[in-house]
Amino acid sequence: MISEEEPLPDALRADRRTFVEKNIYDAADWYDVDYAAYRGEFTFYRLLVARHARTGVVVELGAGTGRLTLPLCEDARLHAVEPSASMRGRLLDKRAKAGFDDARLCVEDGVAAAFVGPDAPVKLVIFAFNGVLHLSSRDELRRSFEHIRRKLDDDGSFALDLTPPYWETMLRGSVPWGRIDERVHPQSGRRFLTCDRSSYEAATRTTRIDIRYAYADNNDDDGVQITLRQHMWTTPEILQALHDTGFVVDSCFGNVDLSPFSEGSPRLLVSATKR
Ligand SMILES: C[S@@+](CC[C@H](N)C(=O)[O-])C[C@H]1O[C@@H](n2cnc3c(N)ncnc32)[C@H](O)[C@@H]1O
Repeated sequence: MISEEEPLPDALRADRRTFVEKNIYDAADWYDVDYAAYRGEFTFYRLLVARHARTGVVVELGAGTGRLTLPLCEDARLHAVEPSASMRGRLLDKRAKAGFDDARLCVEDGVAAAFVGPDAPVKLVIFAFNGVLHLSSRDELRRSFEHIRRKLDDDGSFALDLTPPYWETMLRGSVPWGRIDERVHPQSGRRFLTCDRSSYEAATRTTRIDIRYAYADNNDDDGVQITLRQHMWTTPEILQALHDTGFVVDSCFGNVDLSPFSEGSPRLLVSATKR
């Protein structure tokens, strides 16, 4: 029987080198290698900041390493909420480099269902880039949206974006290691290889994605294998949850180019106000 490692190049095989296994958000450096330069949703959130947050504060839930936080902070005061120490640490480093003080960008260790938030009125809450897929039960989704609503000013707005369920993985149950790619590390300039696999657990509606990273120039370095777990919320479920928790949708797009949302859209970018 062919082992699942066999189709991989030597550098990416776990029977040829050690891979240190981590949760994706405990490997903030690799998160940034993959995503820091991607700005797809920035226009959507920037327009909302311009509309809602000329005064008051923007709360960003799951701010991560600050991919959107730092550029949005050019136009508004931000309060970033992030539960992962590794992601928060990197965000704080970037804040220091950008020269923003605590009044311009405050960073809180918290989660969507229980963040404290700023003292000033909250005009906009954003939960970007699939953050909502980390709310892993209906109860947590409802409690989070209710808490966000309570924290928002009366004329405030809540916005989020997500990718609809990965139907291929869900239908097949699992997709083996593949999507092998060779890239250059943006900081060190070293060549590295990457690949991924995914699996779906129907009982918990959770997709698990494993991604390996391994330098191509030295086989003695350990590789890293990170794991991302996401709850497969459908877009109607998220829209329904907004309605059920007292929000009314005021804009809805199907992709980062702000094309209209329809069934089959690759993304949902939605903003809602208090009903
Ligand atoms: C896909 S990342 C997005 C990070 C960042 N917003 C971006 O656009 O790059 C999702 C973030 O949500 C955080 N997170 C996970 N569970 C959360 C929760 N219950 N409440 C708020 N944030 C959460 C993770 O630690 C992670 O940093």
